Amino acid sequence: MTQLRDAHNRQIDYLRMSVTDRCDFRCVYCMAEDMTFLPRQQVLGLEELERIARIFVGLGVKKIRLTGGEPLVRQGIVGLCERIAALPGLRELVMTTNGSQLVKLAAPLARAGVKRLNISLDSLDAEKFHAITRTGQLQQVLDGIDAARDAGFERIKLNAVVMKGRNAEEVADLVDFAIAGGLDLSFIEEMPLGDVGRSRGESFCSSDEVKALIAERHALLDSAEQSGGPARYVRLPEHPQTRIGFISPHSHNFCATCNRVRLTVEGRLLLCLGHENSIDLRALLRRHPTSDQPVIDAIHAALQRKPLRHEFSSSGEVQVLRFMNASGG
Ligand code: GTP
Ligand code: 5AD
Ligand code: SF4
Repeated sequence: MTQLRDAHNRQIDYLRMSVTDRCDFRCVYCMAEDMTFLPRQQVLGLEELERIARIFVGLGVKKIRLTGGEPLVRQGIVGLCERIAALPGLRELVMTTNGSQLVKLAAPLARAGVKRLNISLDSLDAEKFHAITRTGQLQQVLDGIDAARDAGFERIKLNAVVMKGRNAEEVADLVDFAIAGGLDLSFIEEMPLGDVGRSRGESFCSSDEVKALIAERHALLDSAEQSGGPARYVRLPEHPQTRIGFISPHSHNFCATCNRVRLTVEGRLLLCLGHENSIDLRALLRRHPTSDQPVIDAIHAALQRKPLRHEFSSSGEVQVLRFMNASGG
């Protein structure tokens, strides 16, 4: 088996798969209010998703994250998780979700073999939460987080995209919520994907500003810890069970250690979140229904074109036309 390595000698052992572009929320940083979704025939089928996961695990991928859109609105998601989690050689199947379906699905997902969940939670104030997600109900997500805690996942991490004028003043409250629940929490700088109908520049809040807001309430210790993801972590010496992460594509570029590729919901293999370089795996799968080798060859060749880094700026201008919900988060 030839492991996946790109032209910059980065080993790729992490695949992020968007299993649907649909979502029951319309978060202001992710989507336009009047978002339209792809027709069903353009979206990969469950068997195609499973086949791609199998091919990548055969190529040395150790971690698969299912994302969306909201992965839990995809019909058949629990069975798909079960089949991917059982692939020999995969170290962990994990998922990023908005939490809205977890009351019903947390326990089945844990049973299916999903190891860890990242759950978006941008505000603890019901009105602000509704203003950010446009359609979401805070209590539904809080109940979902409780259900996830009861279901016995190895770790649960909260994700908050911080925006001035919307939730920046809640940063320290979110930290206290994570501490109280024994959860991890990552603060994310907003990225310029898709025209979401508002200027992102005005509300941009850097991770250093977020850190300063937390430091008003808690002592912070830098930590050298790595999760195999883009986050840099700090520890709270008085609350060792909670890790606070910062995902800072603008202020602290993490591309040098990039270990991932993404699969869009239409089956494009995206080599970097910040570039359009991709190959059409869906066409290859459909052209070669019984032989994986042409698909494998195309993946190796594509990796030679993986860009060195994204070129995002925090000006607020749209830099990638594709929306986050179709991109594999
Ligand atoms: P773990 O480290 O495995 O917990 O996951 P993660 O934090 O990478 O995943 P998650 O799906 O929770 O994503 C959190 C944020 O990181 C989202 O805003 C993602 O878009 C962003 N992110 C993840 N990978 C990359 C990447 O390669 N490049 C950039 N620019 N952003 C990324
Ligand atoms: N910039 C940064 N993070 C984003 N997310 C969605 N859109 C954006 C964006 N434009 C986050 C969600 C979720 C994760 C998959 O990506 O909040 O936690
Ligand atoms: Fe849905 Fe996640 Fe996008 Fe929010 S960020 S609209 S929850 S896909």
